[in-house]
Amino acid sequence: MIALGIEGTAWSLSVGVVDEKDVIVLESDPYVPESGGIHPREAAQHHSERMGPLLKRVFLKLGERGIEPEDIDVVAFSQGPGMGPCLRVVATAARVLALKLKKPLVGVNHCLAHVEVGRWKCGVKNPVTLYVSGGNSQVIARRGRRYRVFGETLDIGVGNAIDKLARHMGLKHPGGPRIERLAREGKRYYELPYVVKGMDFSFSGLVTAAKKLYDSGVRKEDVAFSFQETAFAMLTEVTERALAYLGLDEVLIAGGVGANARLREMLSIMCEDRGAKFHAPPRELMGDNGAMIAYTGLLMYRHGIGTTLEESFVRPDFRIEEVEVVWD
Ligand code: ATP
Ligand code: FE2
Repeated sequence: MIALGIEGTAWSLSVGVVDEKDVIVLESDPYVPESGGIHPREAAQHHSERMGPLLKRVFLKLGERGIEPEDIDVVAFSQGPGMGPCLRVVATAARVLALKLKKPLVGVNHCLAHVEVGRWKCGVKNPVTLYVSGGNSQVIARRGRRYRVFGETLDIGVGNAIDKLARHMGLKHPGGPRIERLAREGKRYYELPYVVKGMDFSFSGLVTAAKKLYDSGVRKEDVAFSFQETAFAMLTEVTERALAYLGLDEVLIAGGVGANARLREMLSIMCEDRGAKFHAPPRELMGDNGAMIAYTGLLMYRHGIGTTLEESFVRPDFRIEEVEVVWD
């Protein structure tokens, strides 16, 4: 069985084609803001201009591998959560493609896709997932037929927090890799607000304090270092508490911030101390990508789930808990 998936909830426009075993084609055309952060309308404009050429490229690559458009069994798309204007472009393209190919449509929850692609590629059964991206920061685990969010950010996603700090320090978007590089040269730790409330965490106070630290003349390497140590310790603490509370022994990382080596190191050390196992999917499947949507669409379709045209409206606030999980 072959699924094509379209992702485009925010900056990443990406199309993936997968079968049960592996990713066959993954092509992306990301939107990069000229200045500042992501502008939803500009991103949507980018997606609608690039969607056609991107799909063409995907079909060309499939052709080179002897796969024809008719061989695709299901068309999946990221239905939410995400930016409304971007989601609308994606849903429209998916509907047109499904109609043209005369194939079923499946609307996929973006957060669920991050978790499922990680489980697939890491071969992990029942992990606590730390999903950390620009827009989202959640600690997720499955209970019966639903995924539950055990802890999450009370304000902004950790990636967004990093990007805001980076921008303030004059660094280009996305800030994550740049802050990571600076932090490696950090020598001194300055205390910053560490905010964990119950199982939830918050980053906006941390960003404000880190910006002030920078404005007061502290080296940017030390600001980046202090910020990362604080933010990542918060995430690691809540992930550990979820492991303990649920009696689980596997951690999966998902989302663009998962690329950060220091965060992965902290999680690995925590896992080692507890006798748990830490898993990270390949880099190209960690941030937003079409293959995770394709794979999750395939999984859902194989279990009898489809989305009619009437049901294919966009869902900017779509929560992972809303999806009934009927597969293993
Ligand atoms: P979502 O729609 O799930 O919120 P997203 O649009 O933020 O996702 P992702 O690819 O999951 O997209 O994550 C992008 C974020 O990851 C950005 O905020 C970026 O700064 C951050 N990021 C990327 N690389 C690193 C890194 N090495 N260290 C820290 N953060 C990183
Ligand atoms: Fe994402």
